[in-house]
Amino acid sequence: MAEAYIVATARTAGGKKGGKVSGWHPVDLAAKVIDSLLDRTGADPALVEDVIMGCVSQVGEQAINVARNAVMASRLPESVPATSVDRQCGSSQQALHFAAQAVMSGAMDVVIAAGVESMSRVPMGLSAALPAKNGFGNYMSPELQKKYPGIQFSQFAGAEMVAKKYDLTKDQLDEYAFESHRRAIAATQSGAFKDEIVPLEITLPDGSKEMHTVDEGIRFDASLDGIKNVKLLAEGGRITAATSSQICDGASGVLVVNEAGLKALGVKPLARIVHMTVIGHDPVIMLEAPIPATHRALKKSNLKIDDIDLFEVNEAFASVPVAWLKDTGADPSRLNVNGGAIALGHPLGGSGTKLMTTLVNALGKRGKKYGLQTMCEGGGLANVTIVERL
Ligand SMILES: CC(C)(COP(=O)(O)OP(=O)(O)OC[C@H]1O[C@@H](n2cnc3c(N)ncnc32)[C@H](O)[C@@H]1OP(=O)(O)O)[C@@H](O)C(=O)NCCC(=O)NCCS
Repeated sequence: MAEAYIVATARTAGGKKGGKVSGWHPVDLAAKVIDSLLDRTGADPALVEDVIMGCVSQVGEQAINVARNAVMASRLPESVPATSVDRQCGSSQQALHFAAQAVMSGAMDVVIAAGVESMSRVPMGLSAALPAKNGFGNYMSPELQKKYPGIQFSQFAGAEMVAKKYDLTKDQLDEYAFESHRRAIAATQSGAFKDEIVPLEITLPDGSKEMHTVDEGIRFDASLDGIKNVKLLAEGGRITAATSSQICDGASGVLVVNEAGLKALGVKPLARIVHMTVIGHDPVIMLEAPIPATHRALKKSNLKIDDIDLFEVNEAFASVPVAWLKDTGADPSRLNVNGGAIALGHPLGGSGTKLMTTLVNALGKRGKKYGLQTMCEGGGLANVTIVERL
């Protein structure tokens, strides 16, 4: 079988809810990343054989195959097809898996995997809430309700369940959130994100223009005391807004090729896909799945946790990476080395290839070999990708 290589990565800097990136239509935001991948490789746009794009809320501005609309808004020719993927928060990590599988099979040689979400313009949950409000029903079918009686699937409830099951204290979660900001600040100030960020032109309220290059969610004045004082989301719980991923607008993407694609584009690989896993797990606790998924990925790839140099475990809520650390025994200094979604924001469908962009760049800057990415996803799912930097 052919190998799958990542030859270019790109992401926008995140924007806060209603913030700097909220003026960008998600289709144009995704197109900007596609164009940047072409610029970064000098690839002939006509050689791209498919664009696979993750997006969670495929309604409103993100409806009607957001991937195809992004292709049409980009420099790619109309001959390049596209499809939109919903694997919930792991949508663009799944897009990467589909792209890698396509080039490994030899069915295609050059594929873009990308993701986008404007949570300002298409709020989380809108794809369910809007039809329900207008009399078009709910996804909880009678059979589903019979199997999960009285259950309202909720990531907020899941985050608390994970904290409870793994016996994580509020202090541990708060300390983790502070560290996420600390690392994101250090990464930003040292220029660690510079190569991966696609500058976006934004118009400020006074009409002046600015290039957006710094993740807006980072609190440069973050303090542990400040984090400890944020009110609990649920009475008797342990999670607060400070230990949750931030609502975010953003897009990201990677260009994936096989050996024939490397030759056709005349480019060098940044990383090789070593292993891909996706699993289904308990949908009620929902966010625990990265733990069994990581065990499965390590076993199937014949690697040990200590063989992996850097980890990206999506910070949907602090309980997810803290429980993951506790269970896997991974070295905390290798996890989310540039901060995570608590500080940087989590643009849902845009996060999978965002984390991969950061992972590949961080491996490169540190001269390290193996990276592992995993994300918790609605429905109790989790993807794992292991890459080798080349
Ligand atoms: C948790 C959540 C509801 C909070 O939304 P919000 O209330 O708009 O968040 P804010 O940023 O306004 O924060 C709330 C308060 O906490 C404070 N706060 C948040 N983070 C803080 C920090 N690191 N330090 C100090 N204060 C902080 C804010 O200043 C704000 O205070 P205020 O009410 O006095 O203005 C939202 O971020 C969310 O839904 N996150 C999860 C998204 C999600 O589910 N993604 C999928 C994952 S599975």
